[in-house]
Amino acid sequence: MSSILIYEVGPRDGLQNEAANVPTTDKIAFVDRLTTAGLPAIEVSAFVSPKWVPQMADAVEVFRGITRRPGTRYSALVPNLKGLDRALEAGVTEVAVFAAASETFSRRNINQSIDASLATYAEVSRAAEAAGVRVRGYLSTAFGCPFEGDVPIERVIDLTSRLLGLGLFEVAVSDTIGIAHPGQVRMALTAMTRSLPPARLALHFHDTRGTALANVLASLEFEIRTFDASAGGLGGCPYAPGASGNLATEDLVYLLHGLGHETGVRVDGVVQGRVHLDGEP
Ligand code: HMG
Ligand code: MG
Repeated sequence: MSSILIYEVGPRDGLQNEAANVPTTDKIAFVDRLTTAGLPAIEVSAFVSPKWVPQMADAVEVFRGITRRPGTRYSALVPNLKGLDRALEAGVTEVAVFAAASETFSRRNINQSIDASLATYAEVSRAAEAAGVRVRGYLSTAFGCPFEGDVPIERVIDLTSRLLGLGLFEVAVSDTIGIAHPGQVRMALTAMTRSLPPARLALHFHDTRGTALANVLASLEFEIRTFDASAGGLGGCPYAPGASGNLATEDLVYLLHGLGHETGVRVDGVVQGRVHLDGEP
């Protein structure tokens, strides 16, 4: 059995959607506890417009406050060069850009067409490379769009390939509203892995319909070795009506360890980090 990388998105995908204000000190403690739990990669925050997502306005302070463990990757979303500049100021060494597979979602989420966003990300990728920063990508609505419904797999393949062509090290194929089921995942990955290397794909499942773990099981058949998850199943996108939490990290770890895979993550540590966020000591 192989080693699987869990990319923790709770502090970003989880907290970007919280109605209540989460104090910066609690966010820092949350990230530190996730580090202690052994998560190898943590998406700490987002350098997006605070007018659009006020929950992430303290990204610089959160990055400055966390204790970075050597060997752990700490990443952040950036939508444009301004976001990259802010990330560089905060000492970030890995960022993630986020495109969509449906036009309506792209415009609602980042106020740009898909093509315009890819042009922006080409600039971000060039500037990040010059600064020695790695860039990950997301492709939202890859399994369905809250506004347009079905999304053709040919478009998903084309956009994933174009994102990788910008120099991104991996693309997280994302089920933004948690609509995918294992049959759809098998069909999508059968088609995608004909031309795209599984090592450069990650899967990002939201768990609206309780199918996320089953989707991971289906993805493992295709040599996918990176999965996004969120401690306690926090999550949702403010611009995707109906999107609920991400696949819970502790459930993913439990499944993977049960199958004999290694993750380096302690389930009790993940749970403690999440409980602490609820205000318990
Ligand atoms: P815009 O309004 O079209 O852009 O927003 P703008 O250039 O006109 O900027 C508006 C204001 O924001 C200006 O300030 C800019 O300076 C400022 P003003 O002049 O009015 O005072 N601004 C910024 N400030 C700080 N950092 C920045 C930045 N950029 C502009 N980086 C923009 C376009 C892309 C900025 C906006 O739409 C945005 O920030 N969108 C982010 C939305 C978001 O974060 N969504 C959630 C994350 S995606 C997600 O959850 C999906 C994912 O989990 C995968 C999945 O599940 O599918 C990743
Ligand atoms: Mg998400």
